[in-house]
Amino acid sequence: MSSVTSGPRKLYVKSYGCQMNVYDSQRMADVLAREGYVETAAPDDADLLVLNTCHIREKAAEKVYSELGRLRVLKAAAARDGRRLTVAVAGCVAQAEGEEIIRRAPVVDLVVGPQSYHRLPDLVARAERDGRVVDTEFPADDKFDHLAAPTSAATRARGAAAFVTVQEGCDKFCTFCVVPYTRGAEFSRPVQKIVAEVERLADAGVREIRLIGQNVNAWHGDGPDGRAWTLARLLYRLAEIPGVARLRYTTSHPRDMDADLIAAHGNLPALMPQLHLPVQSGADRVLAAMNRRHDCAGYLDVIARLKAARPDIALSSDFIVGFPGETEAEFRDTLALVDAVGFAGAYSFKYSPRPGTPAADSDAQVPEAEKTERLARLQARIDHHAGAFNAATVGRTAEILLEHPGKHAGQMVGRSPWMQAVQVMAPTSSRGQIVSVRISGTGTNSLYGTLLATPRPDDAAPWQDDSLRSEPVCVAGAGP
Ligand code: SAH
Ligand code: SF4
Ligand code: F3S
Repeated sequence: MSSVTSGPRKLYVKSYGCQMNVYDSQRMADVLAREGYVETAAPDDADLLVLNTCHIREKAAEKVYSELGRLRVLKAAAARDGRRLTVAVAGCVAQAEGEEIIRRAPVVDLVVGPQSYHRLPDLVARAERDGRVVDTEFPADDKFDHLAAPTSAATRARGAAAFVTVQEGCDKFCTFCVVPYTRGAEFSRPVQKIVAEVERLADAGVREIRLIGQNVNAWHGDGPDGRAWTLARLLYRLAEIPGVARLRYTTSHPRDMDADLIAAHGNLPALMPQLHLPVQSGADRVLAAMNRRHDCAGYLDVIARLKAARPDIALSSDFIVGFPGETEAEFRDTLALVDAVGFAGAYSFKYSPRPGTPAADSDAQVPEAEKTERLARLQARIDHHAGAFNAATVGRTAEILLEHPGKHAGQMVGRSPWMQAVQVMAPTSSRGQIVSVRISGTGTNSLYGTLLATPRPDDAAPWQDDSLRSEPVCVAGAGP
């Protein structure tokens, strides 16, 4: 246990959520670094502990309360040592539950919603001076204008790939989802601010930019010409920035995959051949009940056009099983969709009723045991396709961006164009380089590879092998 210390105050931030949640954690650390805080990797060493929470499923939201239980012990121990430990709850649980968090867990000093992170130093000071503070306002001003830029050293320490939030919030209101309530209405950052942030990251040595947003392909920020730009146009602009070698964007909605964006996958070399495009279900009745605003045929049409533009594109998706009223036949439509597309990977979840969302009130909730059983079947199918996708890489050469050192000495971890993690024996000095790697094997969560002396950019992508894929067909007939 640490004793009374002087010197800079120490900060520990823990992320529980999506990529935007991780990005927000970095911005909070950057804002607090300006006030002299330094990050620590050990929670029991911290003076300020921030839990950046996620509300998307019940399990995610409940995790924070078990963590807060443990923090009670830590806070008491710090007090015995004559130290003050300030506990802040940030993120989407903070936004959704506000004061309720303090009622349930009095260990909490500060509750701060995602729109107030630029006020964090002030809020921490107030909480420490006056007692508990809750700030879950949706301010009218642009919080991004006030969020601090990290130092070049902090940027470099985070690796050769970086997230940039370009869009936040959602207007789609899928009937299962809390995001429109926790993140508010859609907001797109203007082009010039995004360009400036990417230029700064590229100057600090970042080679891959991952644009993020809850609905990133709905982005339509103001351009320097006074017009609203599309995401495709933004991607072309960012590709011009010296040092930017790779671009990706996530998470997209099938409805917002416009023709320009699909074409960019064929025409813009910096845009990596990979796309995460959640579909949720393969049954049109379920999609309609989810208010997804697309049907199965529409989704498969987007996939076909993407593959026409970029035949080697690696596709991934999100699925929900056991949405209220989902029948066994409808679930099988989802399995058939998985087989039709042959996803390189996918996340799948049991439907979790979220307070305040329409689907939570449905009387047709699917029993837990059924959800568990369907999830296992779906995951087996997804794993089968992901395994085939990865196995097809073995023996091939791929361009790998070496992002950060691996667990073992002399090892670097990088990403293939298709977003697979690849472990390679390479010097630490090669970080940030794009190197040719011969893929030698597959592990549980990553591939293994051997560094080649000369890049071979013309090497064919493994999954152009048509035998791996079936033709997309609509598994559920015509849409509504
Ligand atoms: N904006 C993205 C997804 C954001 S949330 C989209 O439109 O697809 C990430 C994933 O969590 C979703 O794709 C969905 O699969 C899952 N999810 C969201 N709410 C859920 C709920 N109530 N129960 C189970 N899974 C959920
Ligand atoms: Fe949630 Fe739907 Fe918006 Fe995605 S599009 S964030 S699933 S409401
Ligand atoms: Fe979770 Fe909020 Fe992200 S609910 S998934 S942290 S937007």
